Amino acid sequence: MFSRLIGTGSYLPGDPVTNHDLAARGIDTNDEWIITRTGIRSRHLAPAGTTSSELGLIAAQRALAMADIDPAELDLIIVATSTPDYIFPSTACLIQGKLGNKGAAAFDVQAVCSGFAYALGIADKFIRSDSHKKALVVGAEVFSRILDWNDRGTCVLFGDGAGAVVLEASDKPGILATAMHADGSQNGILNVPGQVCNGQVTGDPFLRMDGQAVFKFAVRVLSDIAEEVATAAGMQTSDVDWLIPHQANIRIIEATGKKLGINRDKVIVTVDRHGNTSAASVPLALDEAVRDGRIQRGQKVLLEGVGGGFTWGAALLEF
Ligand code: UT7
Repeated sequence: MFSRLIGTGSYLPGDPVTNHDLAARGIDTNDEWIITRTGIRSRHLAPAGTTSSELGLIAAQRALAMADIDPAELDLIIVATSTPDYIFPSTACLIQGKLGNKGAAAFDVQAVCSGFAYALGIADKFIRSDSHKKALVVGAEVFSRILDWNDRGTCVLFGDGAGAVVLEASDKPGILATAMHADGSQNGILNVPGQVCNGQVTGDPFLRMDGQAVFKFAVRVLSDIAEEVATAAGMQTSDVDWLIPHQANIRIIEATGKKLGINRDKVIVTVDRHGNTSAASVPLALDEAVRDGRIQRGQKVLLEGVGGGFTWGAALLEF
């Protein structure tokens, strides 16, 4: 029994916001610095009041339409997000309500930029255990809400968006191997160290990052976990048709591809146009490459994420 991808979808809110636009808004930055250090040229920022569940709903509807599945058929809904609409209920329950599904198990996964890889691995385990048959897995974020727009070291890096996949139990190959790991001792290098307490925000409600520590950690674990899932699937990383790494920084993406022996033209890149959309980054890139025809049925695709926690996760699948 495999879990097999039968639909993908994604959604980006509004028009692209370029690096020049950010500089024009008064942020002390410039296009050349952002492109050279990160590869980012533009990102999408959700209009005021727009939430992760609204972005995730559209991505989910597009994935369900591709899969030709009625939302009522879903028996599992997992949403990866670090920017949920509310403390509770979960964003998964909100999307479930908007889709009109009743009865599916629905919950959020909080693993920051690895969230989609974690959620996909969890859904795969539910389906392989034969307890569930049709799963919706969404990555949806409005990171613009937790950015300190006075911190140029972080605010230029992130964007908003959502991506989704529909998985079905199948005897045809689908997800071949998954892995997920964390190292909580590294919680301080990327975090939003605030909370709501007694009716007030306490601590710091903005994203804080030690960029260089994150950079080094990311390259190492993205390579290690890609090797891990390839070995589990009985393959070499150089055998994969497509690598979809978390889209945070083109230099991390290129360093990872090089370490794994994967040619640049087999690596899906959206960071230039999306920025870092955290848990949405991998399903957004996946959907783009499926819809433009690069990813074909039968090809091997390696997805991987890394983010706050620190967490990292990967999946190797036959599309
Ligand atoms: O999902 C995981 C999320 N995070 C990541 O993957 C991020 C990983 N880290 C990185 O991508 C890089 O560390 C950054 C892109 C965040 C930063 O690049 P860096 O080469 O590590 O630069 P830096 O932080 O050491 O800053 C270098 C200089 C500093 O100026 P001085 O002190 O040398 O005069 C910064 O003040 O660049 C300056 N700087 C900027 N200048 C223009 C920092 N941000 C900006 C900016 N525009 N937006």
